[in-house]
Amino acid sequence: MLEEVIEFLQCKPGEIHVDATLGMGGHAQAILQKIQPDGLLIGIDRDKESLEKAGGHLKPFADKIRLVHDNYKNLPLILNNLDVGPVNGILVDLGVSSYQLVSPERGFSIHSEAHLDMRMDRSQRWTAADIVNNTPEEELANLIYRYGEEKVSRRIAAAIVRERKSAPITRCSQLSEIISRTIKGRGHQAIHPATRTFQALRIAVNEELEGLEKFLVEAVGFLKPGGRIVAIAFHSLEDRIVKKTLRRLAGQCVCERPPELCRCPRKVEGRLIHARPITPKPEELAVNPRARSARLRVLEKL
Ligand SMILES: C[S@@+](CC[C@H](N)C(=O)[O-])C[C@H]1O[C@@H](n2cnc3c(N)ncnc32)[C@H](O)[C@@H]1O
Repeated sequence: MLEEVIEFLQCKPGEIHVDATLGMGGHAQAILQKIQPDGLLIGIDRDKESLEKAGGHLKPFADKIRLVHDNYKNLPLILNNLDVGPVNGILVDLGVSSYQLVSPERGFSIHSEAHLDMRMDRSQRWTAADIVNNTPEEELANLIYRYGEEKVSRRIAAAIVRERKSAPITRCSQLSEIISRTIKGRGHQAIHPATRTFQALRIAVNEELEGLEKFLVEAVGFLKPGGRIVAIAFHSLEDRIVKKTLRRLAGQCVCERPPELCRCPRKVEGRLIHARPITPKPEELAVNPRARSARLRVLEKL
């Protein structure tokens, strides 16, 4: 959603923008082109390899960028250390990158023979294999249900626990085969039977939902008046957090109670640019079907 990001960030020459999820630097490059000649981009990613690759792609702008290997949850510390003051825009494009997904050794892919890894930050100790082999059955079922929205999570967790008694489950393809065997023939699935479980494990390993709300609230505090936060979510769990948090920051009710029972705090920090999320255009979906679940939301600081 490159065009939309650039449109909503309203980048102008001389501005300071933060790309909190730099990835391969595609969005960052487009932002940098708009903020020339004297703008600054701060690019954050918890994946060191991605950050290094993005640094290579963005070499022509080397003196206009600050690259930071960190979790965006540490935004206050990162921005205070850089001493840049309030910024004009903050982009957060959540989830995994295509680069991570297609790199078989990173262990995100259902079909990969690689180690069941799924860490975005490879300096982190625990991997998806650690969760699969060490989590008690009920906890595992809850995790798959909650983060994968998988209805047959109990059957999948039971099968995993049965298999791991004879030998640890260490490869992506090994886990996807166990799941396929366990729930094969269940309805007409448009997706691979292991997709939801893999999503759940990925979210759990990287603690993707924890701290997202806090990050959004803190991020708005670093914006100049009129500055914008643009958030892109790829699954409903993330989008729900983004939606609720941005609505709350815009002073709207998020408790879904009748108005007379609502106790939502009404401190207004910003305004929502659209009531509904922006979704990718059909032209984008034709070349990038993975974008089909993307939901973009924008808040402008008052
Ligand atoms: C969807 S990709 C971003 C793609 C990017 N917008 C581009 O144009 O290439 C998400 C990136 O965010 C990073 N990421 C995810 N969660 C993060 C977090 N909590 N802190 C920092 N980076 C994170 C991932 O490592 C990945 O590289």
